[in-house]
Amino acid sequence: MDYMALCRELLLISDDHETAGYLQDLVVFDGAGNWPPQTNHGNSWPEPLRPYHEIYLQLVPTLSCATVLPNDSSNYRRCQDYRARMRMLLQDRIVIADVATLLSDMEAGSCVGFDLKAYNGFYACIALSRHAFRWGTIPIVKAAQEEKIIDIPVELEITWRCLCRHFGLYSQGGNVTSNYFCNFNDRDQIVYLINEDMSEVTRTAEYHFGHVFPAIEKAASPVYYHVVNSIFQYETDNKGAYVASLHIIERLLRQPIKIYYDTLVDSKISRSIWMAYCQGFQGWAAGELIDGVYFEYDVLSGNQLPFCHIIDAFLGLECYLTDQNREGYIPVRQRDFSDSVRKHSFRQQAKRSGDSVIEAEMEKIVRRMRIFRHTHCACATLLTAPERLVMTAGKSVLESEEIPDVDAAIDFLDDILVKRLGETR
Ligand code: HEM
Repeated sequence: MDYMALCRELLLISDDHETAGYLQDLVVFDGAGNWPPQTNHGNSWPEPLRPYHEIYLQLVPTLSCATVLPNDSSNYRRCQDYRARMRMLLQDRIVIADVATLLSDMEAGSCVGFDLKAYNGFYACIALSRHAFRWGTIPIVKAAQEEKIIDIPVELEITWRCLCRHFGLYSQGGNVTSNYFCNFNDRDQIVYLINEDMSEVTRTAEYHFGHVFPAIEKAASPVYYHVVNSIFQYETDNKGAYVASLHIIERLLRQPIKIYYDTLVDSKISRSIWMAYCQGFQGWAAGELIDGVYFEYDVLSGNQLPFCHIIDAFLGLECYLTDQNREGYIPVRQRDFSDSVRKHSFRQQAKRSGDSVIEAEMEKIVRRMRIFRHTHCACATLLTAPERLVMTAGKSVLESEEIPDVDAAIDFLDDILVKRLGETR
Protein backbone atom coordinates (compact mmCIF):
# COMPACT_ATOMS: atom_id res chain seq x y z
CA MET A 1 0.00 0.00 0.00
CA ASP A 2 1.26 3.50 -0.78
CA TYR A 3 0.71 4.88 2.68
CA MET A 4 1.92 8.34 1.73
CA ALA A 5 -0.79 8.53 -0.94
CA LEU A 6 -3.40 7.60 1.67
CA CYS A 7 -2.11 10.28 4.02
CA ARG A 8 -2.17 12.86 1.24
CA GLU A 9 -5.78 11.88 0.51
CA LEU A 10 -6.53 12.39 4.18
CA LEU A 11 -5.07 15.87 4.10
CA LEU A 12 -7.12 16.65 1.01
CA ILE A 13 -10.41 15.65 2.61
CA SER A 14 -9.62 17.03 6.01
CA ASP A 15 -7.71 20.09 4.81
CA ASP A 16 -5.64 21.26 7.75
CA HIS A 17 -6.96 18.96 10.48
CA GLU A 18 -4.41 18.75 13.33
CA THR A 19 -4.59 14.93 13.69
CA ALA A 20 -4.17 14.34 9.95
CA GLY A 21 -1.16 16.68 10.00
CA TYR A 22 0.48 14.71 12.84
CA LEU A 23 -0.07 11.40 11.05
CA GLN A 24 1.45 12.90 7.93
CA ASP A 25 4.48 14.17 9.93
CA LEU A 26 4.97 10.74 11.47
CA VAL A 27 4.95 9.04 8.09
CA VAL A 28 7.12 11.65 6.37
CA PHE A 29 9.77 12.30 9.03
CA ASP A 30 10.01 9.13 11.12
CA GLY A 31 8.69 6.66 8.55
CA ALA A 32 10.73 8.10 5.63
CA GLY A 33 7.54 7.92 3.56
CA ASN A 34 5.78 4.88 4.98
CA TRP A 35 4.76 3.17 8.21
CA PRO A 36 6.38 1.30 9.89
CA PRO A 37 9.60 3.20 9.04
CA GLN A 38 11.58 2.50 5.90
CA THR A 39 15.30 1.98 6.34
CA ASN A 40 18.65 1.65 4.60
CA HIS A 41 21.79 0.28 6.22
CA GLY A 42 25.54 0.26 5.63
CA ASN A 43 26.61 1.10 2.07
CA SER A 44 23.88 3.67 1.53
CA TRP A 45 25.26 5.83 4.37
CA PRO A 46 27.79 8.63 3.93
CA GLU A 47 31.32 7.29 4.08
CA PRO A 48 32.28 8.49 7.63
CA LEU A 49 29.40 6.47 9.13
CA ARG A 50 30.00 3.15 7.39
CA PRO A 51 32.60 1.83 9.86
CA TYR A 52 29.86 1.72 12.54
CA HIS A 53 27.98 -0.84 10.43
CA GLU A 54 31.15 -2.84 9.74
CA ILE A 55 32.27 -2.86 13.39
CA TYR A 56 28.91 -4.16 14.59
CA LEU A 57 28.97 -6.97 12.02
CA GLN A 58 32.62 -7.79 12.72
CA LEU A 59 32.04 -8.16 16.47
CA VAL A 60 28.63 -9.79 16.56
CA PRO A 61 29.86 -13.41 16.28
CA THR A 62 31.51 -12.96 19.71
CA LEU A 63 28.48 -11.43 21.43
CA SER A 64 26.27 -14.40 22.16
CA CYS A 65 27.43 -17.70 23.65
CA ALA A 66 25.76 -21.09 23.82
CA THR A 67 27.24 -21.88 27.25
CA VAL A 68 27.05 -19.66 30.30
CA LEU A 69 30.14 -20.13 32.45
CA PRO A 70 29.63 -21.41 36.00
CA ASN A 71 30.99 -18.38 37.81
CA ASP A 72 30.08 -14.76 37.47
CA SER A 73 33.61 -13.39 37.21
CA SER A 74 34.32 -15.47 34.08
CA ASN A 75 31.08 -14.29 32.53
CA TYR A 76 31.97 -10.71 33.36
CA ARG A 77 35.41 -11.13 31.80
CA ARG A 78 33.67 -12.09 28.56
CA CYS A 79 31.63 -8.91 28.76
CA GLN A 80 34.69 -6.76 29.42
CA ASP A 81 36.64 -8.36 26.56
CA TYR A 82 33.84 -7.58 24.15
CA ARG A 83 33.73 -3.98 25.34
CA ALA A 84 37.50 -3.61 24.97
CA ARG A 85 37.33 -4.89 21.37
CA MET A 86 34.50 -2.53 20.51
CA ARG A 87 36.19 0.49 22.11
CA MET A 88 39.40 -0.19 20.24
CA LEU A 89 37.72 -0.63 16.83
CA LEU A 90 35.67 2.54 17.31
CA GLN A 91 38.79 4.53 18.23
CA ASP A 92 40.74 3.15 15.29
CA ARG A 93 38.13 3.43 12.58
CA ILE A 94 35.81 6.33 13.33
CA VAL A 95 36.90 9.89 12.60
CA ILE A 96 34.67 11.48 15.15
CA ALA A 97 35.15 15.07 13.91
CA ASP A 98 33.87 14.06 10.44
CA VAL A 99 30.92 12.22 11.98
CA ALA A 100 30.02 15.22 14.16
CA THR A 101 30.15 17.62 11.17
CA LEU A 102 28.01 15.33 9.07
CA LEU A 103 25.37 14.88 11.75
CA SER A 104 25.18 18.58 12.51
CA ASP A 105 24.76 19.28 8.75
CA MET A 106 21.96 16.72 8.78
CA GLU A 107 20.34 18.48 11.74
CA ALA A 108 20.62 21.79 9.91
CA GLY A 109 18.95 20.17 6.88
CA SER A 110 21.97 20.59 4.61
CA CYS A 111 23.45 17.12 4.32
CA VAL A 112 23.49 15.79 0.77
CA GLY A 113 23.42 12.00 0.39
CA PHE A 114 22.01 11.16 3.81
CA ASP A 115 18.28 10.64 3.51
CA LEU A 116 15.75 9.70 6.16
CA LYS A 117 15.78 5.99 5.27
CA ALA A 118 19.53 5.93 5.85
CA TYR A 119 19.11 7.96 9.04
CA ASN A 120 16.63 5.37 10.36
CA GLY A 121 19.05 2.54 9.57
CA PHE A 122 21.83 4.43 11.34
CA TYR A 123 19.54 4.85 14.38
CA ALA A 124 19.26 1.05 14.65
CA CYS A 125 23.02 0.60 14.25
CA ILE A 126 23.95 3.02 17.04
CA ALA A 127 21.19 1.76 19.34
CA LEU A 128 22.17 -1.89 18.90
CA SER A 129 25.89 -1.02 19.28
CA ARG A 130 25.12 0.73 22.57
CA HIS A 131 23.17 -2.27 23.87
CA ALA A 132 25.98 -4.59 22.74
CA PHE A 133 28.49 -2.41 24.63
CA ARG A 134 26.25 -2.14 27.72
CA TRP A 135 25.88 -5.94 28.08
CA GLY A 136 29.00 -7.24 26.34
CA THR A 137 27.72 -10.82 26.34
CA ILE A 138 24.46 -12.69 25.79
CA PRO A 139 22.91 -14.06 27.98
CA ILE A 140 23.38 -10.96 30.09
CA VAL A 141 25.08 -11.57 33.42
CA LYS A 142 24.69 -10.45 37.04
CA ALA A 143 27.95 -8.50 37.28
CA ALA A 144 26.89 -6.36 34.30
CA GLN A 145 23.39 -5.88 35.75
CA GLU A 146 24.97 -4.62 38.94
CA GLU A 147 26.95 -1.91 37.09
CA LYS A 148 24.88 1.23 37.34
CA ILE A 149 26.94 3.80 35.41
CA ILE A 150 28.35 2.68 32.05
CA ASP A 151 31.26 4.48 30.45
CA ILE A 152 29.99 4.47 26.86
CA PRO A 153 32.58 5.29 24.13
CA VAL A 154 32.44 8.85 22.80
CA GLU A 155 31.79 7.56 19.25
CA LEU A 156 28.49 6.12 20.48
CA GLU A 157 27.67 9.15 22.64
CA ILE A 158 27.92 12.04 20.15
CA THR A 159 25.92 10.15 17.54
CA TRP A 160 23.29 9.04 20.05
CA ARG A 161 22.64 12.53 21.38
CA CYS A 162 22.07 13.76 17.86
CA LEU A 163 19.70 10.89 17.05
CA CYS A 164 17.77 11.52 20.28
CA ARG A 165 17.30 15.16 19.28
CA HIS A 166 16.00 14.15 15.85
CA PHE A 167 13.50 11.67 17.32
CA GLY A 168 12.61 14.00 20.21
CA LEU A 169 13.31 11.74 23.17
CA TYR A 170 16.00 11.06 25.72
CA SER A 171 17.32 7.82 27.13
CA GLN A 172 20.63 6.03 27.31
CA GLY A 173 19.21 2.93 25.64
CA GLY A 174 17.03 2.08 22.67
CA ASN A 175 13.31 1.68 22.22
CA VAL A 176 10.87 -0.23 20.00
CA THR A 177 11.46 2.24 17.14
CA SER A 178 15.28 2.07 17.17
CA ASN A 179 15.81 -1.59 18.08
CA TYR A 180 12.95 -3.19 16.15
CA PHE A 181 11.30 -0.98 13.53
CA CYS A 182 14.57 0.46 12.23
CA ASN A 183 16.46 -2.82 12.50
CA PHE A 184 14.61 -4.49 9.60
CA ASN A 185 15.44 -4.00 5.93
CA ASP A 186 12.94 -3.92 3.07
CA ARG A 187 13.19 -7.72 2.73
CA ASP A 188 11.94 -8.18 6.31
CA GLN A 189 15.37 -9.32 7.52
CA ILE A 190 17.01 -8.26 10.78
CA VAL A 191 20.14 -6.24 9.95
CA TYR A 192 21.87 -6.17 13.36
CA LEU A 193 21.34 -9.65 14.73
CA ILE A 194 22.36 -10.40 18.28
CA ASN A 195 22.52 -14.22 18.12
CA GLU A 196 24.22 -14.70 14.77
CA ASP A 197 25.93 -18.06 15.29
CA MET A 198 23.47 -19.59 17.73
CA SER A 199 21.15 -22.57 17.26
CA GLU A 200 18.24 -22.53 14.82
CA VAL A 201 15.74 -22.31 17.69
CA THR A 202 17.53 -19.24 19.12
CA ARG A 203 17.69 -17.46 15.77
CA THR A 204 14.04 -18.27 15.10
CA ALA A 205 13.06 -16.79 18.48
CA GLU A 206 15.15 -13.68 17.82
CA TYR A 207 13.57 -13.20 14.41
CA HIS A 208 9.97 -13.59 15.46
CA PHE A 209 10.29 -11.59 18.67
CA GLY A 210 11.72 -8.70 16.65
CA HIS A 211 9.49 -9.05 13.62
CA VAL A 212 6.21 -9.08 15.52
CA PHE A 213 6.64 -5.34 16.27
CA PRO A 214 6.88 -3.98 12.69
CA ALA A 215 4.44 -6.67 11.49
CA ILE A 216 1.77 -5.43 13.91
CA GLU A 217 2.43 -1.83 12.90
CA LYS A 218 2.20 -2.66 9.21
CA ALA A 219 -1.16 -4.33 9.73
CA ALA A 220 -2.30 -1.45 11.97
CA SER A 221 -1.29 1.41 9.67
CA PRO A 222 -4.60 1.44 7.68
CA VAL A 223 -6.37 1.62 11.04
CA TYR A 224 -4.59 4.90 11.80
CA TYR A 225 -5.87 6.33 8.55
CA HIS A 226 -9.46 5.38 9.44
CA VAL A 227 -9.05 6.70 12.99
CA VAL A 228 -8.20 10.13 11.58
CA ASN A 229 -10.92 9.90 8.98
CA SER A 230 -13.60 9.00 11.55
CA ILE A 231 -12.55 11.94 13.75
CA PHE A 232 -12.81 14.31 10.82
CA GLN A 233 -16.19 12.89 9.72
CA TYR A 234 -17.54 13.15 13.28
CA GLU A 235 -16.42 16.76 13.57
CA THR A 236 -18.13 17.61 10.28
CA ASP A 237 -21.25 15.73 11.39
CA ASN A 238 -21.15 13.18 8.58
CA LYS A 239 -22.81 10.33 10.47
CA GLY A 240 -22.88 7.75 7.65
CA ALA A 241 -19.14 8.22 7.08
CA TYR A 242 -17.95 8.03 10.69
CA VAL A 243 -20.09 4.99 11.48
CA ALA A 244 -18.68 3.32 8.35
CA SER A 245 -15.15 4.17 9.53
CA LEU A 246 -15.81 2.68 12.97
CA HIS A 247 -16.95 -0.57 11.31
CA ILE A 248 -13.80 -0.66 9.20
CA ILE A 249 -11.56 0.01 12.23
CA GLU A 250 -13.12 -2.86 14.15
CA ARG A 251 -12.68 -5.22 11.21
CA LEU A 252 -9.09 -4.11 10.49
CA LEU A 253 -8.08 -4.54 14.14
CA ARG A 254 -8.37 -8.30 13.85
CA GLN A 255 -5.23 -8.56 11.74
CA PRO A 256 -2.61 -6.96 14.07
CA ILE A 257 -4.08 -8.89 17.00
CA LYS A 258 -3.99 -12.12 15.01
CA ILE A 259 -0.32 -11.47 14.19
CA TYR A 260 0.44 -11.13 17.90
CA TYR A 261 -1.56 -14.26 18.68
CA ASP A 262 0.03 -16.36 15.90
CA THR A 263 3.60 -15.21 16.69
CA LEU A 264 3.75 -15.58 20.45
CA VAL A 265 3.77 -19.39 20.28
CA ASP A 266 6.49 -21.72 21.49
CA SER A 267 7.33 -23.00 17.99
CA LYS A 268 8.27 -19.42 16.96
CA ILE A 269 9.50 -17.93 20.24
CA SER A 270 10.72 -20.70 22.48
CA ARG A 271 10.08 -19.86 26.14
CA SER A 272 13.32 -21.50 27.18
CA ILE A 273 15.28 -19.22 24.82
CA TRP A 274 13.35 -15.97 24.97
CA MET A 275 14.49 -14.53 28.27
CA ALA A 276 18.18 -15.41 28.02
CA TYR A 277 18.71 -14.75 24.31
CA CYS A 278 16.09 -12.17 23.26
CA GLN A 279 14.77 -10.12 26.13
CA GLY A 280 17.69 -9.36 28.47
CA PHE A 281 19.78 -7.58 25.83
CA GLN A 282 16.90 -5.19 25.09
CA GLY A 283 16.84 -3.92 28.68
CA TRP A 284 19.26 -1.33 30.07
CA ALA A 285 19.02 -1.21 33.88
CA ALA A 286 21.73 1.43 34.24
CA GLY A 287 21.64 5.20 34.34
CA GLU A 288 23.36 8.48 35.02
CA LEU A 289 23.67 11.18 37.63
CA ILE A 290 21.51 14.19 36.80
CA ASP A 291 22.26 17.13 39.16
CA GLY A 292 23.76 14.61 41.56
CA VAL A 293 20.70 12.34 41.57
CA TYR A 294 20.88 8.86 40.04
CA PHE A 295 18.36 8.29 37.24
CA GLU A 296 17.86 4.80 35.79
CA TYR A 297 16.59 3.81 32.33
CA ASP A 298 14.41 0.72 31.84
CA VAL A 299 14.26 1.19 28.08
CA LEU A 300 12.64 -1.24 25.68
CA SER A 301 9.26 -2.87 26.29
CA GLY A 302 6.24 -3.86 24.21
CA ASN A 303 4.52 -1.09 26.15
CA GLN A 304 5.98 1.37 23.59
CA LEU A 305 4.02 -0.13 20.67
CA PRO A 306 2.23 2.73 18.80
CA PHE A 307 -0.69 0.42 17.99
CA CYS A 308 -1.82 0.26 21.64
CA HIS A 309 -1.14 3.95 22.26
CA ILE A 310 -3.21 5.04 19.28
CA ILE A 311 -6.20 2.74 19.82
CA ASP A 312 -6.26 3.48 23.56
CA ALA A 313 -6.24 7.20 22.74
CA PHE A 314 -9.06 6.78 20.24
CA LEU A 315 -11.12 5.00 22.91
CA GLY A 316 -10.41 7.89 25.28
CA LEU A 317 -8.35 5.74 27.72
CA GLU A 318 -5.55 7.34 29.72
CA CYS A 319 -2.03 6.63 28.50
CA TYR A 320 -0.48 3.52 30.08
CA LEU A 321 3.01 5.03 30.45
CA THR A 322 4.21 7.63 32.92
CA ASP A 323 5.21 10.98 31.37
CA GLN A 324 8.82 10.16 32.10
CA ASN A 325 8.68 6.86 30.20
CA ARG A 326 6.80 8.42 27.30
CA GLU A 327 9.34 11.20 26.89
CA GLY A 328 12.23 8.78 27.32
CA TYR A 329 11.22 6.08 24.88
CA ILE A 330 8.44 7.22 22.54
CA PRO A 331 9.57 9.45 19.65
CA VAL A 332 7.92 12.87 19.74
CA ARG A 333 6.02 12.47 16.47
CA GLN A 334 4.42 9.25 17.80
CA ARG A 335 3.50 11.11 21.00
CA ASP A 336 2.07 14.09 19.11
CA PHE A 337 -0.09 11.85 16.95
CA SER A 338 -1.56 9.79 19.80
CA ASP A 339 -2.05 12.93 21.95
CA SER A 340 -4.01 14.52 19.13
CA VAL A 341 -6.11 11.36 18.66
CA ARG A 342 -6.92 11.44 22.41
CA LYS A 343 -7.74 15.15 22.29
CA HIS A 344 -10.18 14.57 19.40
CA SER A 345 -11.61 11.28 20.72
CA PHE A 346 -15.37 11.67 20.36
CA ARG A 347 -16.48 8.68 22.39
CA GLN A 348 -17.29 10.53 25.64
CA GLN A 349 -19.03 13.36 23.82
CA ALA A 350 -21.14 10.84 21.86
CA LYS A 351 -22.01 9.04 25.11
CA ARG A 352 -23.08 12.29 26.75
CA SER A 353 -25.27 13.15 23.78
CA GLY A 354 -26.85 9.68 23.95
CA ASP A 355 -25.49 8.45 20.60
CA SER A 356 -25.87 4.72 21.21
CA VAL A 357 -24.67 3.77 17.71
CA ILE A 358 -21.21 5.20 18.35
CA GLU A 359 -20.96 3.62 21.80
CA ALA A 360 -21.99 0.23 20.40
CA GLU A 361 -19.27 0.47 17.73
CA MET A 362 -16.69 1.66 20.27
CA GLU A 363 -17.59 -1.28 22.52
CA LYS A 364 -16.69 -3.64 19.70
CA ILE A 365 -13.29 -1.95 19.39
CA VAL A 366 -12.83 -2.23 23.18
CA ARG A 367 -13.57 -5.95 22.92
CA ARG A 368 -10.79 -6.35 20.35
CA MET A 369 -8.31 -4.62 22.66
CA ARG A 370 -9.42 -6.79 25.56
CA ILE A 371 -8.71 -9.88 23.45
CA PHE A 372 -5.20 -8.56 22.78
CA ARG A 373 -4.65 -7.89 26.50
CA HIS A 374 -6.04 -11.26 27.59
CA THR A 375 -3.69 -13.04 25.20
CA HIS A 376 -0.77 -10.89 26.30
CA CYS A 377 -1.44 -11.47 30.03
CA ALA A 378 -1.38 -15.21 29.38
CA CYS A 379 2.05 -15.06 27.71
CA ALA A 380 3.65 -12.59 30.09
CA THR A 381 5.25 -14.97 32.55
CA LEU A 382 8.88 -14.73 33.52
CA LEU A 383 11.50 -17.41 33.80
CA THR A 384 14.54 -17.17 35.98
CA ALA A 385 18.16 -17.94 35.14
CA PRO A 386 21.17 -18.57 37.38
CA GLU A 387 23.42 -16.07 35.61
CA ARG A 388 21.22 -13.03 36.20
CA LEU A 389 18.91 -11.10 38.52
CA VAL A 390 15.15 -11.03 37.91
CA MET A 391 14.57 -8.28 35.38
CA THR A 392 12.15 -7.31 32.62
CA ALA A 393 13.14 -4.89 29.92
CA GLY A 394 10.21 -2.57 30.66
CA LYS A 395 10.58 -2.51 34.43
CA SER A 396 14.33 -2.98 34.80
CA VAL A 397 15.93 -5.09 37.54
CA LEU A 398 13.10 -6.17 39.83
CA GLU A 399 15.01 -8.18 42.42
CA SER A 400 14.87 -6.30 45.73
CA GLU A 401 13.79 -6.71 49.35
CA GLU A 402 10.13 -6.38 48.30
CA ILE A 403 10.53 -8.66 45.27
CA PRO A 404 12.90 -11.37 46.46
CA ASP A 405 12.21 -14.02 43.82
CA VAL A 406 10.63 -14.81 40.49
CA ASP A 407 7.19 -15.66 41.96
CA ALA A 408 6.96 -12.24 43.60
CA ALA A 409 8.08 -10.61 40.32
CA ILE A 410 5.38 -12.47 38.37
CA ASP A 411 2.72 -11.33 40.86
CA PHE A 412 3.97 -7.74 40.60
CA LEU A 413 3.88 -7.75 36.77
CA ASP A 414 0.59 -9.66 36.57
CA ASP A 415 -1.02 -6.95 38.70
CA ILE A 416 0.13 -4.26 36.24
CA LEU A 417 -1.27 -6.10 33.23
CA VAL A 418 -4.54 -7.12 34.89
CA LYS A 419 -5.04 -3.49 35.96
CA ARG A 420 -4.63 -2.35 32.35
CA LEU A 421 -7.05 -5.03 31.17
CA GLY A 422 -9.54 -3.74 33.77
CA GLU A 423 -9.10 -0.16 32.53
CA THR A 424 -9.85 -1.23 28.93
CA ARG A 425 -13.58 -0.42 28.90
C1 HEM B 1 7.06 -13.29 25.92
C2 HEM B 1 6.86 -12.06 25.56
C3 HEM B 1 6.36 -10.94 26.44
C4 HEM B 1 6.33 -10.82 27.80
C5 HEM B 1 6.80 -11.82 28.83
C6 HEM B 1 5.76 -9.52 28.09
C7 HEM B 1 5.60 -9.00 29.35
C8 HEM B 1 5.08 -7.77 29.64
C9 HEM B 1 5.00 -7.20 30.95
C10 HEM B 1 5.49 -7.89 32.21
C11 HEM B 1 4.43 -5.98 30.84
C12 HEM B 1 4.14 -4.99 32.00
C13 HEM B 1 5.37 -4.22 32.30
C14 HEM B 1 5.69 -3.19 31.24
O1 HEM B 1 4.93 -2.24 31.03
O2 HEM B 1 6.74 -3.36 30.58
C15 HEM B 1 4.14 -5.76 29.44
C16 HEM B 1 3.50 -4.66 28.92
C17 HEM B 1 3.13 -4.56 27.61
N1 HEM B 1 3.50 -5.38 26.58
FE1 HEM B 1 4.43 -7.15 26.74
N2 HEM B 1 5.44 -8.91 26.92
C18 HEM B 1 5.81 -9.73 25.89
C19 HEM B 1 5.70 -9.48 24.56
C20 HEM B 1 5.04 -8.42 24.04
C21 HEM B 1 4.86 -8.17 22.63
C22 HEM B 1 5.45 -9.05 21.53
C23 HEM B 1 4.10 -7.06 22.52
C24 HEM B 1 3.58 -6.39 21.29
C25 HEM B 1 4.01 -6.64 20.11
C26 HEM B 1 3.81 -6.58 23.86
C27 HEM B 1 3.07 -5.46 24.16
C28 HEM B 1 2.93 -4.94 25.44
C29 HEM B 1 2.14 -3.76 25.72
C30 HEM B 1 1.35 -2.94 24.71
C31 HEM B 1 2.28 -3.53 27.09
C32 HEM B 1 1.63 -2.39 27.91
C33 HEM B 1 0.41 -2.91 28.65
C34 HEM B 1 -0.82 -2.89 27.79
O3 HEM B 1 -0.98 -1.99 26.94
O4 HEM B 1 -1.65 -3.81 27.99
N3 HEM B 1 4.40 -7.43 24.75
N4 HEM B 1 4.55 -6.88 28.74
